[in-house]
Amino acid sequence: MSPSVQALVDQLSEEAARQRVDVLVPEINRHSRLYHTHAAPEIDDYAYDRLFRELELIEHRFPALVRPDSPTLRVGDAPVDELRPFPHEVPMLSLGNAFSDEELHDFECSTDARNGRVNGGIRYQLEREGWVWADIAPVAYVVEPKLDGLAVELVYEDGKLTGAGTRGDGETGEDITHNARSIRTIPERLVGEQLPRRISLRGEILFTLEGFAAMNRTRVAEGDKPFENPRNAAAGTVRQLDPAIAARRPLMFVAHSFGFCEGFEMPGTHTAQLAQLQAWGLPINPLNRLVHGVDAVIAAIAELGQQRHSLPYEIDGAVVKVDRIDLQQALGFLTRAPRWALAFKYPAPEVTTILEAVDYQVGRTGAVTPVARLRPVRVGGVTVSNATLHNEDFVRERDLRAGDTVTVKRAGDVIPRVEGRVEDEGHADRPVTVFPTACPVCGTPLERLETQQAGDAKKIICPNQLGCTAQLRAGLRHFAGRLAFDIEGLGEKLIDQLVDRGLVRRITDLYSLQESQLAGLDRMGDKSARNLIEQIGRSKEVPLPRALVGLGIREVGESTAKELGRAFGDIDSLLAASAADIAAIKGIGEWVAKHVHSFLHEPHTRSAVDDLRAAGVLFKAVPKATVPVPVGDDPVRGRTFVLTGTLPTLSRIDAAALIEAAGGVVKDSVSKKTHYVVAGADAGSKLTKAQDLGVPVLDEAALQTLLAGGEA
Ligand code: IVH
Repeated sequence: MSPSVQALVDQLSEEAARQRVDVLVPEINRHSRLYHTHAAPEIDDYAYDRLFRELELIEHRFPALVRPDSPTLRVGDAPVDELRPFPHEVPMLSLGNAFSDEELHDFECSTDARNGRVNGGIRYQLEREGWVWADIAPVAYVVEPKLDGLAVELVYEDGKLTGAGTRGDGETGEDITHNARSIRTIPERLVGEQLPRRISLRGEILFTLEGFAAMNRTRVAEGDKPFENPRNAAAGTVRQLDPAIAARRPLMFVAHSFGFCEGFEMPGTHTAQLAQLQAWGLPINPLNRLVHGVDAVIAAIAELGQQRHSLPYEIDGAVVKVDRIDLQQALGFLTRAPRWALAFKYPAPEVTTILEAVDYQVGRTGAVTPVARLRPVRVGGVTVSNATLHNEDFVRERDLRAGDTVTVKRAGDVIPRVEGRVEDEGHADRPVTVFPTACPVCGTPLERLETQQAGDAKKIICPNQLGCTAQLRAGLRHFAGRLAFDIEGLGEKLIDQLVDRGLVRRITDLYSLQESQLAGLDRMGDKSARNLIEQIGRSKEVPLPRALVGLGIREVGESTAKELGRAFGDIDSLLAASAADIAAIKGIGEWVAKHVHSFLHEPHTRSAVDDLRAAGVLFKAVPKATVPVPVGDDPVRGRTFVLTGTLPTLSRIDAAALIEAAGGVVKDSVSKKTHYVVAGADAGSKLTKAQDLGVPVLDEAALQTLLAGGEA
């Protein structure tokens, strides 16, 4: 630091210092706003840092002079001991998706209430509400970059920042107020004559690519692991307990909407609302564009697509919003997304790399899946070195061989996947990949699981349920997982050692482990051994739903387990229930009920439950309750689906479970009452029948969109 600033401050009398603080604080706050909100700095970073440093030095010398609006306080929040829940008074919704120009066109123009968009396009909706298209067309839309950061809400009361939270599930997020205060582009106070009494602002917290790279350089220099991508880094930073960490990292905030606003009449268009937010000192995106008519939307999105790789931050698409608020209100909402807005996703990035080997992984249920070992390659912001190859047919159809060049794709948060092979001269000389006939871990001959369900027909299984250590390892990892028995400290490395040394041969052996047996293991001191035994002991008390997850019923995830717990209360009532009893639970459909029931009646399950109980696991009863299930114009809840053919990634059981978990009903045969037929490859008579009856047919991607709250 320049000694002259220090010298200057040393000479100041307290009164002179007070006067200087009164100049510096508003001046620094103004420059910060000019820089962050208006992108129009009047002074360079060096000059800014000098002013800031001067203020810090004065405040250090005369602590009584620290004003509540001092910019130095921004990093001064105390660490918190946990992230508390942050309820959203107005839920934070998600957006429906579009992946093509045609879908963008349908967003305005689709006139079909059932096929295509579930509720027809904007024009169809508005005309149904009594609007005359000629009066409102061309409709004004705002096209905005879809920032790939972390969605947050900021609450300001009488102009002062009083709270900040992550989106969470949309209803409740996590309180990150302490960190929000240390982000420079989040103003501590709004500026202006007229401020709302209370307002909740929504926006995105993210890193610029440059800020991200600089931070990673520092991390590497200091011996820390670099972050994978800006989005994860932003999420990780914002969730830190100690705000000093966020304060050191160059995060930024950009506002894109608001939840509630009290004591101020917001203007009647989205554009004017954003301008108002900007006038209050909030940063908004200068690339937002107002266009008229859907063709102009398509053009603006294409243009943004051209620009996207030269932007200083990552975007994962574009958001289109109807500009007029009265039209937004007339359009209203689907369950999880507004009808007046849509997210366009640019095609996923694709790269090529070398398939170094095909390995085989044995899962918890014995399923053997081929896995690609790839030469590490960056795609869509992460480094990929493994990817699933799904099943034998996937490998055979593409004729993938070790040494081939393959294309790898990753879309958004989706797990990277191998798409296909690039023809090359060497391919023919490489040995054909042969699926093993014996378990690569225990050597037991593999079995092909033949079931009537198309999605399951390709399963290859190691039948050695009790003796295959790969299944035991995977089972232990699942059992100890956070959503199941939550045994902290029982990670992969430790599980490997326990299994390798024969200390754990079945899951229940965990409960007879002794401290002395653990003490000899790698990286296991007396203290960790004691802790682990304590954690294992504590896990006996997990409530029924988590114990059910731990049992590893394929169709039972966290939410179904909770439903089962609420409905039956204790394990004995559940074990005594019929498939029909289970199916009677709201939110659990017949298909899932049948599978849960048969799992619970397998001798293997029964003996696992008995053994766990003998080891002291309580399957702790939970209060019984019936929860009302909301209905609305949800695209899935209460609708009837029929599945046919083989879907590209989901098995039919998984697809049915997802539909039923979202409140849909899965039936075996197609009738006039069927709402959707979901068809995959080799679909037969059900598809023909659907076409005859005019029942809409979805592919897996369209189903996923529906399930995500969008429109097929
Ligand atoms: S508007 C009701 N505008 O995308 C719609 N969202 O699926 C409110 N996002 O996590 C959202 N950039 O935080 C809107 N320009 C933008 C956005 C944007 C990114 C995020 C948003 C949320 C998700 C919505």
